[in-house]
Amino acid sequence: MTSNTESMKKITVVGAGNVGTTTAQLIAEKGLADVVLIDIIEGIPQGKALDMLEACPLWRSPSTVQGTNSYDDTAHSDIVVITAGLARKPGMSRDDLLQANADIIRKVAENAGKASPDAIFIVVTNPMDAMAHVTQRITGFPHQRIIGMGGVLDTSRMKSFIAMETGAHPKDIEAMVLGGHGDLMVPVSRLTKVEGKNITEFLSESVIDKINDRTKNGGAEIVGLLKTGSAYYAPAASTVEMIETILGLRKEPLPCSVYVDGHYGIHGVYVGVPVMLGGSGIEKVVELDLTEGELAALHTSAEAVKGLMEKIGI
Ligand code: APR
Repeated sequence: MTSNTESMKKITVVGAGNVGTTTAQLIAEKGLADVVLIDIIEGIPQGKALDMLEACPLWRSPSTVQGTNSYDDTAHSDIVVITAGLARKPGMSRDDLLQANADIIRKVAENAGKASPDAIFIVVTNPMDAMAHVTQRITGFPHQRIIGMGGVLDTSRMKSFIAMETGAHPKDIEAMVLGGHGDLMVPVSRLTKVEGKNITEFLSESVIDKINDRTKNGGAEIVGLLKTGSAYYAPAASTVEMIETILGLRKEPLPCSVYVDGHYGIHGVYVGVPVMLGGSGIEKVVELDLTEGELAALHTSAEAVKGLMEKIGI
C-alpha cells in the first residue's frame, strides 16, 4: 500500500464561505494538496470539508480535506489562502468593506502567520490590495510571500468578454489587467491579442471600451445579479491558477497584487503588476513597456490603494 501524504503539500483556506469552499473544492478535486478549511463558525468548515473528503474517491483525488475552528490544525501549511470576511452586497464597492474586513484580516493574519511561519499567503478578501498589505504588516513576513489575488480574475473576466465579442476560444486570447483590484483597475487593451492579433486591429474603439468597462465592473455585475453576495467561481479558479503556478505546475507571468517599491516608478504599495510566481512566492516582477497613459492610470490606481491604507492607519 502506498501513501500519498508524505509528498503532499498542505494548503489552509481561511473562510469556509463561497470563495473559500470553492477554492478548497478545486484544490481537492485536482489533488493539488491536502486542504484545511478553517472558519469561526462551528460545524460549517467541518461539515463542508467532510463532504468534500467523501467526494475525493470519486474525483480520484489523493487529497485529504479537514474542517476546523482551530489554527493548531493549520500548522506548517505551505500555502495559506485568506478568504475570510464580508462580501459585497448590491450598491457596495469593494472599498466599503475596508474597516470591517481589516479587523478580520488582522486576527486571521496573526493566527495563521504564527501557525505557518514559512507559508506563502494568498489574500483574496476585499479590498484585496489593502488587505494584502495588512496581512504583511501583521505577519511581518517578507513581501515576497504575500500575494493578492485580483489581476488573474480581472484578466479572466476580460478574456471572457473578448470571447463573447469575437467567438474566439479563451485559450487563444492574451490579456492583461493591471492596477488595484478596484474601480480604477487598468485593462491594457494595447497588449490584448486574439490568436496573436492585437484587438485594436479588428475591434472598434467602442467595442473595446465596452469590454474594458465590463471588465472594470465585472465584480459589481455579479453582485447585482446575485443580490446576496459576490462572485466565487472565477475568484476561486483564479486563486487555484496562482497555487498551481506556485507549485510549479505552470510557468507564465500572472498579474498579482504584490508590494511594488520601485518598479513602474511606484513606491511602497500593494498593486497589481505581472509577476513570476514559484516555490518562494514572488520570484520576479515583470516590467512591461507601458505607454505614458497606461503608466499614469497605473499610478492613479496605486494612489487609490494608498488612500485606503491611510484610512486604516497603515
Ligand atoms: N476567521 C475565519 N473566518 C471568518 C472570520 C474570521 N475571523 N470572519 C468571517 N469569517 C468567515 C465567515 O464565517 C464566512 O464563512 O468568512 C466567510 C466568508 O464567506 P462569504 O460570506 O460566503 O463570503 P465570500 O463570498 O466567500 O467572500 C469572501 O472574498 O472575494 C472576496 O469580496 C469577497 O471579501 C470577500 C471574501
